[in-house]
Amino acid sequence: MSIEQPATRPANPRFSSGPCAKPPTFDLTKLADAALGRSHRAAVGKHKLKAAIEGTREVLGIPADYKIGIVPASDTGAVEMALWSLLGERKVEMLAWESFGSGWVTDVVKQLKIDAEVKTADYGQLVDLASVDFANDVVFTWNGTTSGVRVPNGDWIADDRQGLTICDATSAAFAMDLPWDKLDVTTFSWQKVLGGEAAHGMLILSPRAVERLESYTPAWPLPKIFRLTKGGKLIDGIFTGATINTPSMLAVEDYLFALDWARSVGGLQGLIARANANTGAVHAFCDQNDWIANLAEDAATQSNTSVCLKFTDTRIQDGATFAKAVAKRLEAENIALDIGAYRDAPAGLRIWCGGTVETSDIEAMLPWLAWAFEAEIAAQTKAA
Ligand SMILES: Cc1ncc(COP(=O)(O)O)c(C=O)c1O
Repeated sequence: MSIEQPATRPANPRFSSGPCAKPPTFDLTKLADAALGRSHRAAVGKHKLKAAIEGTREVLGIPADYKIGIVPASDTGAVEMALWSLLGERKVEMLAWESFGSGWVTDVVKQLKIDAEVKTADYGQLVDLASVDFANDVVFTWNGTTSGVRVPNGDWIADDRQGLTICDATSAAFAMDLPWDKLDVTTFSWQKVLGGEAAHGMLILSPRAVERLESYTPAWPLPKIFRLTKGGKLIDGIFTGATINTPSMLAVEDYLFALDWARSVGGLQGLIARANANTGAVHAFCDQNDWIANLAEDAATQSNTSVCLKFTDTRIQDGATFAKAVAKRLEAENIALDIGAYRDAPAGLRIWCGGTVETSDIEAMLPWLAWAFEAEIAAQTKAA
């Protein structure tokens, strides 16, 4: 049986979960105003760095009394700075349900050697949020990028908590509502939802997080790249654009462009609506086809950015080989790039649905997914 290819192709086959697709209006000429070859401490550079900070505040609706810093080493750098600078003052609870959350557990337990209470869930599931004790510091990932499972909202976080909440929101910021009053430390990287460049991370601190930084000194040494305080006071410059070390002004310009694009589609609510429309198209496809399903079991926890899918057809002989072969077919046809499941995650596909992806591209890609599935089932039967 020959399986016919669909007639329509996506205009943009980029569905990677990071770096994510650039905004649809992007081209390199948009970065012509970058302050290249200039000191980042000159007025022009400082102005752009400040604009990146205040643009982030405006688009994400971050309260005026929260500090926003541009830090080295992307989201990883921002999370590490927070863990190393803040933890150890009280008991720590670590929540993890996929690869990135597990990575933070390793850091805290094996590197910082903190005797943390670790709560984990398998890929597709969420930890028991009702069991969290907010007398402790709590570290979690808002959206588990490698399992497509997110926390449904912030209602489970106590308003009167004594500990801090430290939230890795790298695949959530600009696609989901983040309740700032519940989050003491929030991090994300430019390369994710807005399709920016890698290199820099954002570190967002509540007044309570600043208070901890100014009243507590960890027992371990901190390299310069992690240091947020000097003489017991917050280094305020980091949060006004005087970065710890030299940033990429090209990446800064690109982020400023991405923020402008975000404003042009209606800001945060426009971005959320775009991500939801993309995810809705994928969900409808799963409903129509009984051979594919969302890895996230509970609909309330299903991500609207990193949508993870598993094949459920009983004819499939080797799940991992099959999923890889489907992804390879779609890549070879230039229909969908980089949609294989994350290396540590269960076999399947991961389709990025954040706002920089056009719904028309998702809709054009899905019939090709059905084509690749049928073609692979046929190939497998022939080989057997
Ligand atoms: C939840 C989460 N945390 C951390 C990271 C690491 O981000 P970066 O490589 O930008 O440091 C990623 C990247 O995919 C992620 O999805």
